[in-house]
Amino acid sequence: MRPVLVLLQSHCLLSMFAGVCVPVVVGSLPPALPWHVSCPVRCAPTVDCNDLLLTKLPLPIPPDTHTLRLQSNLLSALDTAVLHGLPNLTDLDLSQNRFSHVRTITQSYSIPSLLSLHLEENHLGHLPEDSFSTLPALQELFLSHNNLRSIALPESLAEDALEGLEGLESLSFYDNLLTKVPTQALRRVPGLKFLDLNKNHIKMIETGDFQDMVHLKELGLNNMEELVSIERAALKNLPELTKLEITNNPRLSYIHPQAFLQLSRLESLMLNSNSLSALHQHIMFSLPSLQEVSLHSNPLRCDCLFHWAAKETLHPHFEKDTRKCVFGLCNSK
Ligand SMILES: *[C@@H]1O[C@H](CO)[C@@H](O)[C@H](O)[C@H]1NC(C)=O
Repeated sequence: MRPVLVLLQSHCLLSMFAGVCVPVVVGSLPPALPWHVSCPVRCAPTVDCNDLLLTKLPLPIPPDTHTLRLQSNLLSALDTAVLHGLPNLTDLDLSQNRFSHVRTITQSYSIPSLLSLHLEENHLGHLPEDSFSTLPALQELFLSHNNLRSIALPESLAEDALEGLEGLESLSFYDNLLTKVPTQALRRVPGLKFLDLNKNHIKMIETGDFQDMVHLKELGLNNMEELVSIERAALKNLPELTKLEITNNPRLSYIHPQAFLQLSRLESLMLNSNSLSALHQHIMFSLPSLQEVSLHSNPLRCDCLFHWAAKETLHPHFEKDTRKCVFGLCNSK
């Protein structure tokens, strides 16, 4: 053990004898300002206990804590009664710890004030039913770099895993082992606006995988080694979707002409760095709000492929290198 060294390296303001983290007020203004500034939320008390080799919660935690940072410790379980005693806790960062069971974080006691939960870089392999139902106000959930997979029996992502997260707006599954879109689980989070499924093992985006998610604004389906195709009506009736990224998928060679249906507000479609050799014109023409398309770094057969695009309403610009088509679509009349 090198506790003294570790304590000195930390960002934590510590009482060295007690080994307890004390609040750090961030974002405070110099005292000499002549006008009154009301304190924004980010001035709220933050307890910063990152990088301390902690195996349990540091105690006591001030009851007025809003943000509790426990990134990069050795935690595998939490005394949730302690967190329950923090009525104004909004941000909890448990990333880079050793949690393998989500229940050890969310069971027994609710944290009704929590808005943001960071669980990146843990060892979660399973999200059982109602994993987060004790966090009714949660808006952001970060699950990237875990071991969640959807191939195991039973599925590691229970259909009801996200039950109760009515207010969830942002969800990241970046870098897990999902082999399909967790469609059923996503149905339980109707308010979702931002969804990151990048770097999973999904092979196909299938019919109905993303359907009727009426608040979804941005979707990421990037960096999937195994993704080969996007099927008919894979994305359907997403009336708020403005940005869709499907990039850096080295085997993605097929997008069905009617893969995207009723995406009336889609402005930005990123399809670069895939294995697309062709793209059906219906895909573009079915997207009335489209402003930006990126297709570079695909093995596109540009000469014939974009014949349809050279119409009066469209102004394609191609680089000479046929492997690098950059397609600028203008909304001109
Ligand atoms: C929590 O916030 C409320 C509203 O701002 C405040 O009245 C209350 O004192 C806070 N509780 C604690 C323990 O700081």
